[in-house]
Amino acid sequence: MILVTGGTGLVGSHLLYQLVLQNKSVVAIHRKKGNLSQSFGSVKNVFSYYTDNFEALFSSIIWVEADITDITSLTVAFQNITHVYHCAAMISFGRKDYRKMRKINIEGTANIVNLCIAKQIKKLCFVSSVAAVGKPLIGNQITEDNEWNIAENNSGYAITKYGSENEVWRASQEGVDVVIVNPGVILGGGFWKSGSGKLFDKTYKGFKFYTEGVTGFVSVIDVAKVMTQLMQSSIKNERYLLVSENVSFKTVFFAIADGFKKKRPSVKVNKLMSGIAWRLGWLLSKLNGKEPLITKQSANSSHSHSHYSNTKIKEAIDFQFLSLEETILATCKDYMKDIKNY
Ligand SMILES: NC(=O)c1ccc[n+]([C@@H]2O[C@H](COP(=O)([O-])OP(=O)(O)OC[C@H]3O[C@@H](n4cnc5c(N)ncnc54)[C@H](OP(=O)(O)O)[C@@H]3O)[C@@H](O)[C@H]2O)c1
Repeated sequence: MILVTGGTGLVGSHLLYQLVLQNKSVVAIHRKKGNLSQSFGSVKNVFSYYTDNFEALFSSIIWVEADITDITSLTVAFQNITHVYHCAAMISFGRKDYRKMRKINIEGTANIVNLCIAKQIKKLCFVSSVAAVGKPLIGNQITEDNEWNIAENNSGYAITKYGSENEVWRASQEGVDVVIVNPGVILGGGFWKSGSGKLFDKTYKGFKFYTEGVTGFVSVIDVAKVMTQLMQSSIKNERYLLVSENVSFKTVFFAIADGFKKKRPSVKVNKLMSGIAWRLGWLLSKLNGKEPLITKQSANSSHSHSHYSNTKIKEAIDFQFLSLEETILATCKDYMKDIKNY
């Protein structure tokens, strides 16, 4: 029996679809929340992108209420489990979220790892991030061998992803087979108010700004497929960068605007403008208590140039990534379908 954490999020929901499609027996955890039908509705909606038979596929999942920071509820979820996909995490670049993010990402992963060791789980697949991979010497592509450097100007999120990866390596030292994926920015449908979903939502609504920073992008479908292939392979104790293409935010914003047949963003934001924007955002957040739209870390990363290699995963499982163009077009279609329905 397979356990999936984070099944109500972007990666987890697309992964759940891949697993139930393969007729796997799956337990997924959900948190105790006011609006559970909304969480489940989002997962069903993701399934509906793939098939009309989404209700039947969704009903094959056993849902257990558990929080990864709560060992008691998590222990119940681990009953009869042999394989674990750990996708649950908190993603934030807001300063005030740092402590909470450490608790969920590092302590929560430590709890998962401890249970994997105690229950002699056969294999654990963990979703890390390119944020937990070190920066290269100037001009070089980043590979899995780049050591994360604590002395770099890392975001709080990167620190917690690095910390959680370390917990997973501890599992491997204690005899649990592990595989780690380190995706770039993950593009895919279903969660338009968070993560990369916001790029689609904002562009559709006429967002005017873009930067020329470069990073790696990958389809959520590919992330889910690679995870299941790695779990079914004999590969263990390795990590893999998951990036289809390294392109600028400008390229992505323009492609999304084209996908929606909307006007392309027209204002190029330089470093000076971003610097003013995050400082103003910070000041405003102090006055109105709201999360700033842009933080120092997100402003900096929107200008940095990072190129990631995908050679290792391509060679390991003979994988072909979807192109960015087809991923963006398909995600625009899913967005259009969703705004028609709601
Ligand atoms: N999105 C990206 O571009 C990207 C890129 C690289 C790596 N990643 C990594 O990929 C993984 C999945 O990200 P995502 O984009 O799918 O995030 P997401 O859409 O925000 O989903 C996060 C999931 O984690 C769950 N979760 C959070 N705290 C939890 C807790 N204390 N106990 C149990 N579940 C909890 C959430 O549950 P609720 O529904 O209850 O909130 C949700 O199901 C993360 O590890 C992230 O670091 C993401």
